[in-house]
Amino acid sequence: MQQVTAVIARSKGAPVELTTINVPDPGPGEAVVKVLACGVCHTDLHYREGGIKDDFPFLLGHEASGIVESVGPDVTGVAPGDFVVLNWRAVCGECRACKRGDLHYCFNTHNATQRMTLTDGTELSPALGIGAFAEKTLVAAGQCTKVDPGARPAAVGLLGCGVMAGLGAAINTGAVTRGRSVAVIGCGGVGVAAVAGAALAGASPIIAVDIDAQKLEAAKRMGATHTVDSSAADPVEEIRRICAERFEGAEGADVVVEAVGRPETWRQAFYARDLAGVLVLVGVPTPDMKVPDIPLIDVFGRGGALKSSWYGDCLPSRDFPVLVDLYRQGRLDLDAFVTEEIGLGDVEAAFDRMHHGNVLRSVVVF
Ligand code: APR
Ligand code: ZN
Ligand code: ZN
Repeated sequence: MQQVTAVIARSKGAPVELTTINVPDPGPGEAVVKVLACGVCHTDLHYREGGIKDDFPFLLGHEASGIVESVGPDVTGVAPGDFVVLNWRAVCGECRACKRGDLHYCFNTHNATQRMTLTDGTELSPALGIGAFAEKTLVAAGQCTKVDPGARPAAVGLLGCGVMAGLGAAINTGAVTRGRSVAVIGCGGVGVAAVAGAALAGASPIIAVDIDAQKLEAAKRMGATHTVDSSAADPVEEIRRICAERFEGAEGADVVVEAVGRPETWRQAFYARDLAGVLVLVGVPTPDMKVPDIPLIDVFGRGGALKSSWYGDCLPSRDFPVLVDLYRQGRLDLDAFVTEEIGLGDVEAAFDRMHHGNVLRSVVVF
């Protein structure tokens, strides 16, 4: 057991606080990771606001990279000294999704350990089973994916959540390939990553849609060929017009990624698809939101597929090392997602800045 400094959310809505926590030695199937960097994600804020679960106190932070310090007795996949990116869906191999081969859909995603405590013995709930706003954290060994040790920790740690969600929404869920037309509605961290994924796959045109001009600039830097300010123009009309310039008769894009998580933007995405096109919902709706009132004949008549993308349908062991290599080769600009590097004591302030137009990610570095 060792004691380290960490950021916790003690009670619903209260500002986060720095405190000392106990990190036990790794047991069977576990690893202790010395955290090098951890991004500040919306989900951390949702945890703090009590919007996800009620089992406070939470140990926040889940977009992280670090060095494996020690592993439990039966661990073979990673070893002390390995540079790893953490994920929040270690594959269990036992559930019905795993057994039918859909590993990226494993239903036991919270198979992470929950043995860290406050110094008075109070059990901590690690956010998404990680809890990496801490100098060290205890995770399931399957949550660690070894990647190129030369990569910048703050940049590659972001693959652990939002950036992977966006990249994967385009590449994995939308199966975007060379020459496909893609539109992305909503260009925050997730949407911009979807743009980057489409660019990586060789899609064209790549149409970025947002109501914020700064987000559209970021999308352009990540590979968008066209931008649409949907506070000024009808995005459905614009996407159709741009796609028809390239592909005669096109009624929209082959793949439309919805990265806002709202009924009205989902409706836009639905109608901005070409016939037989794919809609990928990656923005996270709130429980009260309903599917927009769309005539069933339009669902039937337009064909194609209506999908959702959870964690970018990623398989960390397959996707993280490849994406880190692409980053190292200069083909995927993960640095562009790191708006600022901050200290562990600055998480609360980073929450305040989260909704400012020019922040994609604040990343705690150790
Ligand atoms: N049309 C187009 N874009 C919009 C609209 C709209 N009507 N409303 C909001 N947006 C844009 C915002 O301007 C912002 O750029 O959507 C983007 C959302 O980005 P972020 O708030 O940074 O969220 P992000 O981290 O990208 O996540 C996207 O998935 O994880 C969830 O809670 C998260 O729902 C959010 C979504
Ligand atoms: Zn499983
Ligand atoms: Zn996240």
